[in-house]
Amino acid sequence: MASVMQLPEPRGPLSAALATDLRERSAVDPATAELAARAVDGIAAAAADPLLDEDLQLSLAVCYELHYRGFDDVDPAWEWEPSLLALRARLEAAHLAGLRALVGEPPAGEGPVDSRLADLVAADDGPSLSRYLARDGSREQWREYLTLRSVYHLKEGDPHSFAIPRLEGRAKSAMVEIQADEYGGGSAARMHSTLFAGMLHDLDLPDAYGALWDAAPAPAFASVNTMSLFGLHRRWRGAAVGHLTAVEMTSSEPSRRYSAGLRRLGFGEGTRVFYDEHVEADAVHEQIAAVDMCGSLVTGDPALADDVLFGAACALALDGLTARYLLDRWEDGGSALRRPGQPGTAASRSRPARVIAQPKTVAAGNMSTL
Ligand SMILES: [Fe+2]
Ligand SMILES: [Fe+2]
Repeated sequence: MASVMQLPEPRGPLSAALATDLRERSAVDPATAELAARAVDGIAAAAADPLLDEDLQLSLAVCYELHYRGFDDVDPAWEWEPSLLALRARLEAAHLAGLRALVGEPPAGEGPVDSRLADLVAADDGPSLSRYLARDGSREQWREYLTLRSVYHLKEGDPHSFAIPRLEGRAKSAMVEIQADEYGGGSAARMHSTLFAGMLHDLDLPDAYGALWDAAPAPAFASVNTMSLFGLHRRWRGAAVGHLTAVEMTSSEPSRRYSAGLRRLGFGEGTRVFYDEHVEADAVHEQIAAVDMCGSLVTGDPALADDVLFGAACALALDGLTARYLLDRWEDGGSALRRPGQPGTAASRSRPARVIAQPKTVAAGNMSTL
């Protein structure tokens, strides 16, 4: 049977009430809807950041997950339950307000959208997590980083793929070209999500879909919720395309550094293949995404240019937020996880070494050599 996860541990009153409703009812309890309204108002009144609110981000992620693989303990009929969609809309409005506050005004400018995207990326001054992890990151910090990133990478490609039916012409075929690589070009063993799972295994972390949700902090969910929001609303198709483009434009060089960090810790090619693959693939994807995908979309519908840039700005800003979150906690000698030291240590150590598929372009690697 395909691996499916259970509902995650609640992180506050809203996610607790939501979990109870999803397990025991067929529609949202009005008291839960009221809780959601109060949670959103409370965050606004306190001028707190909804993107860092554990209860809100987890609740939104639970709502969206019903469109991905769902939960073992939730009836699939919940996916389109109107009362749940109404609750989700409230959380989305708060999340979008958080994104607007994070990225500020869209950059004014003229010219082709691909050069405006390049300017945006060049102006990004967020801290470099890849530099830190390449040079200084400890094995434990690496495990924390992968725990956080697992919330996205175990469903890598999926959020943006929701946008495909909303596109046409070259914009659509360009996105499919990029996504085909994310999904391993026809080989399940080469899917980027599979390569990431292999890396989790080699670092003694649970590699099942959703297995690390309870340990991952809010920025992990804020990042994926942003992609889900853009992918699941046709109105945000420009932002979905812009977001994917920023990811592709900022992946190749950092991937080289991440791979170097794992090599420094003694991990072989078999473990690093996830990053090595992105060094090559994303250098190619970058042009397809910016010129073909975004360029064609905006040529066909110039009014989408601002959304493309907004989506790209969100990707860059959320990467910055995540980097700051991790580096701040590590600087104090602490853990960035909700459950420090938690994921999977002793039990997973005895697992047999995984067998990886032979990549077309990467030499056969050894397993973890730590
Ligand atoms: Fe990828
Ligand atoms: Fe890519």
